[in-house]
Amino acid sequence: MRTLSRVTTDGPEALFDDPAARAGYVRRIFGEISGRYDLVNRVMTLGRDQAWRRLAAEELVRPGDRVVDVGTGTGDLAFACREAGARTVFAVDFARPMLERACAKARQLSDDHIAWVHADATRLPLPDASVDGWCSAFVVRNIPDLDTALAEAFRVLRPRGRLVVLEVPRMDQGWQRPFARTHFNRVVPFLGRRLSGHADAYRYLPVSVDHFLTPPELTQRLISTGFGMRSVRVLMFGTVALHVAEKA
Ligand SMILES: C[S@@+](CC[C@H](N)C(=O)[O-])C[C@H]1O[C@@H](n2cnc3c(N)ncnc32)[C@H](O)[C@@H]1O
Repeated sequence: MRTLSRVTTDGPEALFDDPAARAGYVRRIFGEISGRYDLVNRVMTLGRDQAWRRLAAEELVRPGDRVVDVGTGTGDLAFACREAGARTVFAVDFARPMLERACAKARQLSDDHIAWVHADATRLPLPDASVDGWCSAFVVRNIPDLDTALAEAFRVLRPRGRLVVLEVPRMDQGWQRPFARTHFNRVVPFLGRRLSGHADAYRYLPVSVDHFLTPPELTQRLISTGFGMRSVRVLMFGTVALHVAEKA
């Protein structure tokens, strides 16, 4: 039987004091839940997650674009980018089991225009100004050195290239907050434990949301990196935000 990663006895909170430990933990848990990842996503989002990825891809891609999907996981945003007209997708992840599942899905779809790349979002193996679009879905909240990852996005994008971030934001206020908190603190850990058998991974998720940025804070970080904002949308009762920006 596999031994699943356990968080420290202090719980997931302790990971936020140690960036290297958190990055290692994130890589391990996604490796361990790769087999059930898609199923848990569909159930947790009431089947909406693919529609959000399609929306993200439509905001990002112009026909014929070369785009990079960072933290591609099992590849669903990369596939959505291809459907939206991308010529080539560089789909990057640092957890090999997730990439293996993505590759298997690409073989079933007979799609060989996606390059599956084992790499870290903070050190992309791409030249400067080499892609038209950079996107990520449910990833940046898990990157301890977010500023470096955003600077990498800025580096690899050509001038006026687009960036799309789909993410679960922290909600400090608003009528959606009670719904979002109940969903992430109660529903997600319960469903995650039942469906994936990996209680720790889905206990980490709400904690990672509490430590993340609100939509205005993420907007500010993008502007500080040098991006110009195009739009910010909050979806599904505040549980998901879609930021669209452009390399100024
Ligand atoms: C919640 S999953 C999202 C997967 C996919 N984007 C989706 O829409 O379902 C987060 C993914 O990001 C990857 N990831 C997290 N931090 C990363 C980093 N620094 N570099 C590369 N991949 C990373 C994880 O391995 C995992 O596969």
